[in-house]
Amino acid sequence: MFDLEKNYSINARRMKKSAIRELLKLTGNDEIISFAGGLPAPDTFPTEEVADITKTVMAREGAKALQYGATEGYKSFVEELIKWEKEMTGIDIEPKNILVTTASQQALDLVGKLFIDPSDPVLVERPTYLGGLSAFNQYGAKFIGIKMDDDDTGISIDFLEEKLKNLKAQEEHYKFVYVVPDFQNPTGITISHDKRIRLIELSEKYNFLLIEDTPYRELRYEGDDVTPLMKMDQSGNVLALHTMSKIFAPGLRLGWVIGNEKLIDKLITAKQAVDLCTPSFTQAIAAEFMRRGDLLKNVKKVRIEYRKKRDIMLKALEDHMPKHPKIKWTKPEGGLFLWVTFPEEINTETMFPEAIKENVAYIVGSAFDCYGQLKNTMRLNFSFPKEDTIEEGIIRLSNLIKKKLV
Ligand SMILES: Cc1ncc(COP(=O)(O)O)c(C=O)c1O
Repeated sequence: MFDLEKNYSINARRMKKSAIRELLKLTGNDEIISFAGGLPAPDTFPTEEVADITKTVMAREGAKALQYGATEGYKSFVEELIKWEKEMTGIDIEPKNILVTTASQQALDLVGKLFIDPSDPVLVERPTYLGGLSAFNQYGAKFIGIKMDDDDTGISIDFLEEKLKNLKAQEEHYKFVYVVPDFQNPTGITISHDKRIRLIELSEKYNFLLIEDTPYRELRYEGDDVTPLMKMDQSGNVLALHTMSKIFAPGLRLGWVIGNEKLIDKLITAKQAVDLCTPSFTQAIAAEFMRRGDLLKNVKKVRIEYRKKRDIMLKALEDHMPKHPKIKWTKPEGGLFLWVTFPEEINTETMFPEAIKENVAYIVGSAFDCYGQLKNTMRLNFSFPKEDTIEEGIIRLSNLIKKKLV
């Protein structure tokens, strides 16, 4: 047979089958209570509304919605997104500042394509979104991890500046800083307002592109909104990534990026070679969904459901996790995840098969670390599991930890 390995490109050779995804196949079993996925709750999907909207869209603009569309995005969808940004964040944008993507994972890939040559330094939070690491890794990024401060206010800005200074001194040209500032995947932590101001200052002082990946921003359950980096930026240094995946439905594969005109233009060129355009069909559906005011309604519904689930998980952790000075977890004000840290002797990787035997699943923290460390941590998802299974899942996990601690 044709020798695949010999003929793969350098980029293809960098692609690694994820050990985690393989492990997660084990969680398909119905007996298992899974906190592993990052999926929205299926009962939040507005299936009836979408059925009705599809009829309307087909009758009104069916041929257009089934045709190829502009790479930039479907006109009515772009118009709705501009209104949405204005209403939700007060950010004023023009069509030239926005590109519709095949959800935000594509935007991450396009960023990698545009900016990363093999061995280029890319600065990321420790931990950070696994899919961001995979996307940038394929282009050969050399990751520089920025640790989090212990007070749950996000990455250490002092540490970041130190790294930037070192890179500058070594004349190494870093390409961008990637952050997930709102209810981060995987920790649920939100970068504080003061730190955001400093991040923007650093982006000006050290002249770098700041990628603000924010799929969870609208899913706040308590506390006050923190100003988006995009809104603070006066220099055109921020590229913001958004998606419909967690506020509407991931099956639409719809996202959008906002940034300075030149960068958007370059991204459009890169995207043309990837998929020509994001599906017109789903954009037309989403545009009508937004026009009817259903997106905000859906966001409000999702917030109520996930808040309840978050509270159940937090209470269960409080009630059942062994009391130990080195066991702690984040208390996110929104999003889909929380992050648990254990004493060093607990290795969540080696513990994983035992957890599966106990019929509970999580994602090992090391998967989110650009250095593959943080082995005494795990990510728990609270949006997907059924409300009445969450406490039982936490009991199973807590019992396992109790056994490990003795
Ligand atoms: C931080 C972050 N970025 C990007 C994505 C990709 O989402 P999508 O491609 O569905 O928009 C996710 C998905 O979980 C995420 O958590």
